[in-house]
Amino acid sequence: MAKILVTGGAGFIGSHTCVELLGHGHDVVILDHLGNSSRVVLDRISEIAGKKPDFVLGDVRDRDLVRDTLAAGIDAVIHFAGWKAVGESVEQPLRYYTNNLDSTLVLCGEMERAGIRRLVFSSSATVYRSPAEVPVGEGAPLWCDSPYGWTKFMNERILSDLAVSEPSWSILLLRYFNPVGAHPSGRIGEDPAGIPNNLVPYITQVAVGRREFLTVNGNDYPTPDGTCIRDYIHVQDLASGHVAAIDYCLKHQGVETVNLGTGTGSSVMEMIQAFEQVNGIRIPFRIGPRRPGDAPMSFADPSRAAAVLGWRARYGIRDMLRDAWHWQQANPTGYQQPDIDRVPSAD
Ligand code: WQD
Repeated sequence: MAKILVTGGAGFIGSHTCVELLGHGHDVVILDHLGNSSRVVLDRISEIAGKKPDFVLGDVRDRDLVRDTLAAGIDAVIHFAGWKAVGESVEQPLRYYTNNLDSTLVLCGEMERAGIRRLVFSSSATVYRSPAEVPVGEGAPLWCDSPYGWTKFMNERILSDLAVSEPSWSILLLRYFNPVGAHPSGRIGEDPAGIPNNLVPYITQVAVGRREFLTVNGNDYPTPDGTCIRDYIHVQDLASGHVAAIDYCLKHQGVETVNLGTGTGSSVMEMIQAFEQVNGIRIPFRIGPRRPGDAPMSFADPSRAAAVLGWRARYGIRDMLRDAWHWQQANPTGYQQPDIDRVPSAD
């Protein structure tokens, strides 16, 4: 087994991956500044896995901190840390480029210095030009519609060039499609700050009463029911995909690009109907205007993941929506404890 540094390991996909890594006998060190997550997650990871990850509070752009953390016998790194709000990246491009690129540059510079050259990078299907021919293979044309997407694209370039410069590097670029769901325990899950941008957390917040209704962003697309089709993948499948990626990374050299998707597309209406059926809860919705930048259809060709990693997704949308609801129902306000304990200030 190995000792894996997980940057951003307190986040949605990171936390589920840490549970899976611990469950497979790896030791885990989480480096996270908790700017977009909560310390509660660390306790929940330990509770589920029955084993505590080490935790380092800080920013992956802090060179000295990264150097010290890597010196603790790290064998490989999974790099999740980065900002991922598409809309926000359009409004604040410099912050996104600085944060998402500097973090990778500092991390890889210190890994190179320490002679640690095994890295799994959290990339995204957002790097594919839209609309893409479906199913989308790793060789599909690349083009991004947001600074967020371009940071993923540029990080892939940086890492690919690094692998070419030093053949002893082993790098996996994992392109996620639409991660949703939660660990079946309901103890960890997706906890977006503010109003959810993404479909499934918005649905679960409607179901738990935090939102009045769902707005469906357009139903006049060239799809069977007029709503957009996406490749939703259970976060548990993503987590097992990362374990397979680390195992591959520890045994090989060079750079590989792999889609993590199911290969099955589901429309917005299908997701609403599946949620209502599997959870017995009605989701009130209204049809709104199209959301700029949305492609009618996107779903993966997952064959390379099977060929290279021996991995394929196991769960369907009913499992995803059952587990997403189980998490939200048990954690109506996510990880932030409602501040009912806060003593009201005496005005
Ligand atoms: C899915 C469909 C919406 C919310 C995004 C990021 C991508 C990646 C995954 C990081 C679309 C519709 C949504 C709502 C709706 N993240 N929708 N009402 O846009 O495919 O991908 O998350 O890598 O970078 O772009 O996912 O869940 O936002 O939307 O009708 O309230 O649901 O219009 O058709 P998307 P999504």
